[in-house]
Amino acid sequence: MEVTERELSFGTTRVPYHYGADRLPELVAATIRQLPDADAVLLVSDRRVRDHAQTLAALLARHLRVETYALDAVEAQKTLPSVQAILEYATERRLSRRSVILAMGGGTVGNIAGLAAALLYRGTRLVHAPTTPVAAFDAVVSVKQGVNLPAGKNLCGTYFTPTLIICDLRWLSTVPRSGLRTGLAEMAKNILVAVPHRRDSFTTALAELDRRPLAALRDLLEIGIEAKQPHLLDDPHERRGALVFEYGHTVGHAIEFASAGAVGHGEAVAWGMRVAAEVSRRTRGLDLECVETHHQLTAALGLPEPSERFRTIDRAAVLRALTADNKRGYAACEPDEVLMVLLDGPGRPARDETGRPLVPVPVALAMDAFDRVAGATRSEPVSRPTTGVLR
Ligand SMILES: NC(=O)c1ccc[n+]([C@@H]2O[C@H](COP(=O)([O-])OP(=O)(O)OC[C@H]3O[C@@H](n4cnc5c(N)ncnc54)[C@H](O)[C@@H]3O)[C@@H](O)[C@H]2O)c1
Repeated sequence: MEVTERELSFGTTRVPYHYGADRLPELVAATIRQLPDADAVLLVSDRRVRDHAQTLAALLARHLRVETYALDAVEAQKTLPSVQAILEYATERRLSRRSVILAMGGGTVGNIAGLAAALLYRGTRLVHAPTTPVAAFDAVVSVKQGVNLPAGKNLCGTYFTPTLIICDLRWLSTVPRSGLRTGLAEMAKNILVAVPHRRDSFTTALAELDRRPLAALRDLLEIGIEAKQPHLLDDPHERRGALVFEYGHTVGHAIEFASAGAVGHGEAVAWGMRVAAEVSRRTRGLDLECVETHHQLTAALGLPEPSERFRTIDRAAVLRALTADNKRGYAACEPDEVLMVLLDGPGRPARDETGRPLVPVPVALAMDAFDRVAGATRSEPVSRPTTGVLR
């Protein structure tokens, strides 16, 4: 599959995004063209993509010095010490201000190495080489770089724009099929909040992942860009209109964090969307057809039954993480409330008077909706959360 060269716009900054399949030499050539003055590249990669990383490193090494650094892409490692370890390695290996950090992996490595690039010498150039659907279709179409703190997910970070994004869709083909589908939950979210008219193309691409995987991945990548790009042009820091992409994330992040990564980001967001749809139904009158669309989309992703999955999620930990959500402060919100993106209809997020798509929701109501999605019969009072595992 030929290389497609697109350009993403984050406000006034343009970032080339080159993608194709089995065209690594062309992607490397594009990288070298984009960075003619680079003196070295630090390839920070996920240990699980070692084979892809070795091939990429060998091709890059024909043009410039390549240093490599591998890490485990687990949520528990998405921390400041992991960023510091990369920074120390970079200085040990004598990277200069002309050097480049190339982040190869899923969203976890992209975020850790992205933050390291933003901090090294107060900013060195960053190239993203995403290897998962979450990363390729969603995370790299964003300039948010961040890591977790003990209190919650993505509480520490910055905005840093990459110089280039390259993706060989073949890299994504080694993601286990189950991870591939659940990872596409971010895409389902983008359909619900931004491009509902692309729902059929999305489900068709999902259905074709087995028969023609590379073409289906390319279609999904293009839907991802189409959904996010207009919002990021106007709001590159995702502080106003582009906050719509936080749909499902308030509760999703809490589930992901509370499960210490046992529930992956994509799946957690899928459950978070189901909870957000339930809250939208109760507070905004979201119609049942749209709620049903949420069910159909999560079913198309091949997720397990919520009752089965939620049994493994610590409800009290979800409640704690929910109250540390990183959208706090974007809008007025009482201590017993949490800011959520809600829907009035497909592609129609509820907005406050400033146009921000955030609504304060009582934590008790959010947890009640969580319980409903989990199949539990009643919610616990917020002031006395239960401990242990949700039954
Ligand atoms: N910056 C943003 O706007 C943004 C957007 C979405 C998600 N994120 C972040 O991204 C993270 C989730 O990203 P993710 O879903 O890519 O998870 P991930 O990076 O943790 O990868 C998921 C799993 O797949 C493995 N893996 C990665 N590439 C592989 C490949 N090609 N073959 C086989 N295995 C592979 C990893 O080792 C890991 O076990 C979260 O931390 C989330 O907060 C950030």
